[in-house]
Amino acid sequence: MSIETQEYINGLRPGPLTREIPECMRDKYTVLQSILDITLFLIIAIRKVIQAIYRTIVGYPKKDLKGNIALVTGGGGGLGSLMALRLARLGCTIVLWDINKQGLEDTVKLVKGIGGQCCGYVVDLAKKEDIYRVAKQVHLEVGRVNLLINNAGVVSGRYLLDTPDHLIQRTFDVNILAHFWTVKAFLPSMIEKNDGHIVTIASMAGYVGVPKLVDYCSSKAAACGFDESLRLELQDRGITGVRTSLICPFFIRSTGMFDDVNSRFLPQLSSNDVADRVVHAIRTEEPFAFIPGILRIALCLRWLVPYQVIADFVRMMIPDASPVGHAAPPTPPDSPSPLTETTLPKRESRPLSLVPPERHDRQV
Ligand SMILES: NC(=O)c1ccc[n+]([C@@H]2O[C@H](COP(=O)([O-])OP(=O)(O)OC[C@H]3O[C@@H](n4cnc5c(N)ncnc54)[C@H](O)[C@@H]3O)[C@@H](O)[C@H]2O)c1
Repeated sequence: MSIETQEYINGLRPGPLTREIPECMRDKYTVLQSILDITLFLIIAIRKVIQAIYRTIVGYPKKDLKGNIALVTGGGGGLGSLMALRLARLGCTIVLWDINKQGLEDTVKLVKGIGGQCCGYVVDLAKKEDIYRVAKQVHLEVGRVNLLINNAGVVSGRYLLDTPDHLIQRTFDVNILAHFWTVKAFLPSMIEKNDGHIVTIASMAGYVGVPKLVDYCSSKAAACGFDESLRLELQDRGITGVRTSLICPFFIRSTGMFDDVNSRFLPQLSSNDVADRVVHAIRTEEPFAFIPGILRIALCLRWLVPYQVIADFVRMMIPDASPVGHAAPPTPPDSPSPLTETTLPKRESRPLSLVPPERHDRQV
């Protein structure tokens, strides 16, 4: 290596770009440039903060969803079916995707019962090929989806070392990888028409770690990153008509996922309230919705107090996040291979109890 290169690496010699700037201006240029950049940024930021305060006081305009085609994954039950009902009332055509055929049939009936248009497709979101194939089918049979709600989710609810590999894999397949495939399937036509909205149903668990939810929390953290990067990517490409919203609820009661979780300090949320809040976020094109909103403050405090305070708070708040309300039995101490699936008790996380669909793409 030449002396010149060595000096360049050690920072003693200017790089190819700084060489262009006259010696006497080098430091001044960067300082001046930084001052200008920061000033410009502050002006824009202050304008946006004033706009946001004004909108918070007078309210955000609500967009009309009539005529939209809304696809809700995991629409065969829980939060998905409640959102579908609300969107149908607002005039959307509803497309439901779920692995649970019975749940789909029930929700389709409910939506049609209130005069809505709805069809359901049995799809296993853990299978990329299923997603791409049924997406094409929906495009042909129903039309262009312009509201995509990635809502389906699963939870294992065991200590990491007690969680079989296939459940960890499934958590990531459904809770985050499926978002990649659905977005890749539906975003191009949204971009083409400069009209669309992608909603990610993540969780507060995407921002706060919880014992027994290692796979769930990491998949939800990935979902939070997915939404934010996608939003910035769309802005970067100048696509103004396609919005994204990230929804982070606390534990919800009566959907089936975390029914037995007894949280302290904060009561579990009503599933109807959460569904209303999601629809409000869609109509006002809110980028982030933390439910309840007070948790935004808790998230800021998280970085201001000593970490152990947060750790104790989370452990007190959620004594047991196991979705079935009891801890996995302890592993025998002298077990030769304590982590193999065969030594674990047979307890699949939801919705593996569901009968596998006969035909994945059957419309109900
Ligand atoms: N329930 C809560 O406390 C809570 C809290 C925060 C966030 N969330 C999130 O909200 C979303 C909805 O949760 P929910 O409470 O309605 O749960 P839920 O279990 O009632 O509903 C999830 C739906 O996803 C479907 N699903 C699961 N695996 C699938 C697969 N492989 N293919 C297709 N469909 C599949 C299920 O059949 C079910 O209908 C989830 O993403 C969840 O992580 C829930």
